[in-house]
Amino acid sequence: MIFENAEEAAGYVRSILDFEPQVGIVLGTGLGNLVSEIEIEREIPYKNIPHFSLTTVEGHSGKLILGHLSGKRVIGLAGRFHYYEGRTMQEVTFPIRVLKLLGVELLIISNAAGSTNAKIGVGDLVFIRDHINFHAENPLRGENEDRFGPRFPDMLNTYSKRLNDNAMSIAKSLKIKAHTGVYFGLSGPSLETPAEYRMINILGGDVVGMSTVPEVIVAQHMGMEIFVVSVATNKCFPIKLIRPTTLDEVIEVANSAEPKLTAIVKKMLSEL
Ligand code: HPA
Repeated sequence: MIFENAEEAAGYVRSILDFEPQVGIVLGTGLGNLVSEIEIEREIPYKNIPHFSLTTVEGHSGKLILGHLSGKRVIGLAGRFHYYEGRTMQEVTFPIRVLKLLGVELLIISNAAGSTNAKIGVGDLVFIRDHINFHAENPLRGENEDRFGPRFPDMLNTYSKRLNDNAMSIAKSLKIKAHTGVYFGLSGPSLETPAEYRMINILGGDVVGMSTVPEVIVAQHMGMEIFVVSVATNKCFPIKLIRPTTLDEVIEVANSAEPKLTAIVKKMLSEL
């Protein structure tokens, strides 16, 4: 059923604009302004697209953006779905299925995340090289849809090494502070306790957040190339540096890091 629904959604998008996107971009918290860099051909509100649920979280407006960025045909997801909103894993990842059916081969995801690595400071960028799925669920649970991918997708080379290397050299050339790291994904919506942040550090998580992992699993299932960048918005390790975190702060830091992220993504795409 998910395949047929995704085909229907993709068919609707194609009926609005005959445009085969090469690159999909998930515009995460506070990073929605990357949109202003896209030469937009068409915007499609999610509410018009069959089977797309509506966004609810502050800062997520909910539309597909089709256009060009650095000479590439891109499709942006302005507004994403989170598991903590009470949606199912299938709903959260549905847009990624649609992107694939529209022709997207490369998926770029941005997110805001807490830093559980003492070396990663507030405002730093982290190119994700691996993840730990701490959601109690997996979006691929249930009958496998072979038309999307295999029952047991391999996760060894999930994150594109060539794009991480490229992003790191661009960051160096632009004097942008960046790291590579492991994204620790969990469900939220409560933030973590100090003991949990410490656990995440011990288990090998460099940043922690409530999104991305479901989308990445589904994208890997469908054989997409994946590039994920986190903006570290709050310090979570060592424990003595933890301060109360508010959504406003997270959005503010993510917004102020946005020009760095935009510069890297634009250059990266221009070199593809
Ligand atoms: N924990 C989980 N998700 C987050 C955080 C955090 O500290 N900061 C931004 N997103």
